[in-house]
Amino acid sequence: MPSTTDRITIVDFGSQYTQLIARKVREQKVYCTIISCRAPFAKIIAGSPAGFILSGGPSSVHDRGAPLIDRRIFEQGVPVLGICYGMQLTAKLLGGTLHRSREREYGKATLRVNAKCKVQNASIFAGVPAESQVWMSHGDSVLKPPKGFVPLASTPQCAVAAMADPVRRIYGLQFHPEVVHTAHGLRIIRNFLSGVCGCRPSWTMGSIIGQSVKTVREQVGDGRVVLGLSGGVDSSVTAMLLHKALGRRVTCIFVDNGLLRLGERAEVERVFQKQFRVPLVTVDAAREFYKKLKGVTDPERKRKIIGREFIEAFARTAKKLGGVGFLAQGTIYPDVIESTSFKGPSATIKSHHNVGGLPEDMRDLALVEPLRELFKDEVRRVGLALGLPRDLVMRHPFPGPGLAVRILGEVTKERCDVLRLVDRIFIDELRAAGWYDRTSQAFAVLLPVRSVGVMGDERTYQNVAALRAVVTSDFMTAEWARLPAALLARVSSRIVNEVKGVNRVVYDVSTKPPATIEWE
Ligand code: XMP
Repeated sequence: MPSTTDRITIVDFGSQYTQLIARKVREQKVYCTIISCRAPFAKIIAGSPAGFILSGGPSSVHDRGAPLIDRRIFEQGVPVLGICYGMQLTAKLLGGTLHRSREREYGKATLRVNAKCKVQNASIFAGVPAESQVWMSHGDSVLKPPKGFVPLASTPQCAVAAMADPVRRIYGLQFHPEVVHTAHGLRIIRNFLSGVCGCRPSWTMGSIIGQSVKTVREQVGDGRVVLGLSGGVDSSVTAMLLHKALGRRVTCIFVDNGLLRLGERAEVERVFQKQFRVPLVTVDAAREFYKKLKGVTDPERKRKIIGREFIEAFARTAKKLGGVGFLAQGTIYPDVIESTSFKGPSATIKSHHNVGGLPEDMRDLALVEPLRELFKDEVRRVGLALGLPRDLVMRHPFPGPGLAVRILGEVTKERCDVLRLVDRIFIDELRAAGWYDRTSQAFAVLLPVRSVGVMGDERTYQNVAALRAVVTSDFMTAEWARLPAALLARVSSRIVNEVKGVNRVVYDVSTKPPATIEWE
């Protein structure tokens, strides 16, 4: 953990942008954590950070039950920056006047920095032009700042778009500096971090890796760790970090469930076993999985069976290793935030982060989670810095139940083999056309219907494959990717020519919602 002089605490009031604020702070190489405004006050101020940021939020400070914060937050002797709701709350708690508006100001606005306040502006608006574009999303606004504050800037609709108490170093911004539509948002954040709070840019790749290695070594001592390696980004980077920290005292278990993509197992073995010499045990469990999935068509039953079989195979193998005291997981910071968030634990927490399914005698294993503090982009940069291949580090997410939820209807080895070939062609062509990195997730689905076709003089009656490619930033909503027609034509032609048993290809043009990304 960086020293207290170089860290910021973000208090979350439920804004959709809170994680974005944290990422922008970390982009400035300053470590920060997010804490819910509902946490006990002692916990909020714990660790003596160099400054606090109060996030936005969906409430009005006038609402009954609106989230508040102990006003002693302003008496900690360190700077505070309130953003949107955070600014309104600051004004309310310190005695300012608020204007309650039924209309929301939403979208771009022109910010005019108050030229008369040069001294105060020097800190937070240093280097920001007199007029610039900002992003607004608010109902209420500050009419009169509290005593000791001066208005710093305005927009045509908002007289006090920024305010400051230069003595106590308390700032308020009505607009969102963390959003890309605020032209100089990053500069304002940087000004707050370094100019106002005095934070140094110490959250670098070297310090992130060094810190994680140190923490793992302290926790594990001379113990042994076991990790379920899926070949996905999070578990792969976890494996590399643990290996760096503990050498051969970490063992990875890779369960080949028969539901993987073409060449996936060989690639994991090549990278981890051959290239990096990470101790790896591959469990060949495909036949058991197929057997258990025989005749099953319900997606949720498939998931349950696969989850159970995975735990069983993993636990059996871990027990055989003997002397293992720790279980590693690829939990990342958004998972941690989700489970302690303002809105409370969410039902969408990844199931593989839930160790509840482990057998009784494995629940005693202590958890090791070296990525717990990191956002996905930081995890990826750590992976690259530790030498993992770019293709692996930048790959799209792949669901735990694998191809089973992309084969609608019964899952068999034969159908998996067909889908593997279709998927490979699609992904290879996307990569070749430079579209893989422009989509967030892309894959093929095998439908449970056959359709009529014609090949030479013969009628065929074969499988239909659906292609899905989406663009999303959070996987909660998604747009279908506008792939060029020529690319789709090439993919389709290759699939029907090269994959026996498929005579029709369709492209999924549904958004999420109402559709989901996966078909099951
Ligand atoms: P949906 O289909 O819900 O997918 O729009 C959102 C994201 O979640 C992934 N997904 C899963 N991941 N186990 C997983 O580990 C699952 O059962 C599962 N179902 C969906 C999906 O691939 C997408 O990235």
